[in-house]
Amino acid sequence: MAQQIQAIRGMNDVLPADISAWQHLEACAREVANSYGYEEIRVPLIEHTELFKRAIGEFTDVVEKEMYTFTDQGGESLTLRPEATAGIVRAAISNGLLRGARHKLWCIGPMFRHERPQKGRYRQFYQLDVEAIGFAGPDIDAELIALTARLWRRLELSGVRLEINSLGTPEARRAYRELLVAYFRRYESALDADSRRRLQGNPLRILDSKNPQMAEVIAGAPLLSDHLDEPSRAHFQELRATLERIGIAYRVNPRLVRGLDYYSRTVFEWLTDALGAQDAVCSGGRYDGLIAQLGGEATPAVGFALGIERVVDLLVQAARVPGAVPADVYLIVNGAAQAGAAIQMAEELRDALPHRRFEFNLGGGNFKAQFRRADKSGAALALICGDEEMARSVVAMKPLRQESGQTECPRSEVASRVEELLLRLTSRPSG
Ligand code: HAM
Repeated sequence: MAQQIQAIRGMNDVLPADISAWQHLEACAREVANSYGYEEIRVPLIEHTELFKRAIGEFTDVVEKEMYTFTDQGGESLTLRPEATAGIVRAAISNGLLRGARHKLWCIGPMFRHERPQKGRYRQFYQLDVEAIGFAGPDIDAELIALTARLWRRLELSGVRLEINSLGTPEARRAYRELLVAYFRRYESALDADSRRRLQGNPLRILDSKNPQMAEVIAGAPLLSDHLDEPSRAHFQELRATLERIGIAYRVNPRLVRGLDYYSRTVFEWLTDALGAQDAVCSGGRYDGLIAQLGGEATPAVGFALGIERVVDLLVQAARVPGAVPADVYLIVNGAAQAGAAIQMAEELRDALPHRRFEFNLGGGNFKAQFRRADKSGAALALICGDEEMARSVVAMKPLRQESGQTECPRSEVASRVEELLLRLTSRPSG
């Protein structure tokens, strides 16, 4: 036997048995985003490497260690997107969408990071990404957080908690950064290798370290919240007041810094205790400087991304996944002569009742075997197209989930009779 080819480590198949949770989450996300007036955008999976280097930052884990970068046939350095924000901003600039206009956008799709795979952390993973471009005030920050809170309610997920922080303006952060570097230099011998490296490029990320041996040094570090610029402080105050007014509980976490460099002012994260180490299910923040940094006219913006696999895990754990939708009708062919006519009838039924699901018995089989398949399909109704019935231009109908007898109807009326019967047999709406 030829050797089997395995999937790439950290890249998962989503099998039909697991798809209902994904579809449910995607449908609810679309519904909620739409209810706030956000529009879908689709951008390429691959961009110039330079885009991510400039947007995410040279000294971030994502750019330093995790990007899938390759040189294409034309000699260009390209990268599989590790996140969606950079591509969406690039799209807004290169399609001339800015010019003072405002855009509320969302997209769903796969992202790629060469991380060490473990539960909840994959090399190909999906995000729901939501971005609001052209809005400066804290009202939109609050709206995005309200949108996520509404999505949790719509999905009937409890047990996710919100943490927020403000990173201030880049200028305020530069001054704070100097304080932080001076502080950590005093404890350089206590820093681990990662943190020592970050001391040069990205000292704020040291605050984010998960190494328990670093906890004490980090606990003593100066807090950014004590060194915020006044407008950022006011922005954060107003965000907090709005969240309180609309009843969204939060905790201010002064150590929340985020792993991507483009943030300024508000950052937030929704966390869960139900998934182990990978506890962030949705993260985002404001990135007022990014658009100018990528060559567009200076435009404030804010957004977030939700990790679909992690939220799907929460849905499965909490048993909040709707059951798979079974077939409505199974078409049984009794006798070989009329198989072609039966397929034709199935096509006509799909034309007439596009909202219904018809399964045609493929590959023949005796009457009993076909009934077994019909039963397994979960269909509410079997249509029996036997040679004898077809010769009389009628079709037999047999409810499969109820003790009621077989009836017959003329072929010309089959679509309306099927719909009538299905409405009676199931409580599902006719679409
Ligand atoms: P991020 O924090 O890098 O932010 O990712 C957002 C979410 O994606 C995380 O909270 C997590 O749920 C999920 N996620 C990240 N990495 C993985 C992984 N390897 N496997 C599974 N899930 C993962 C961003 O990507 C920003 N672009 C968010 C944003 C949008 N900020 C402003 N606008």
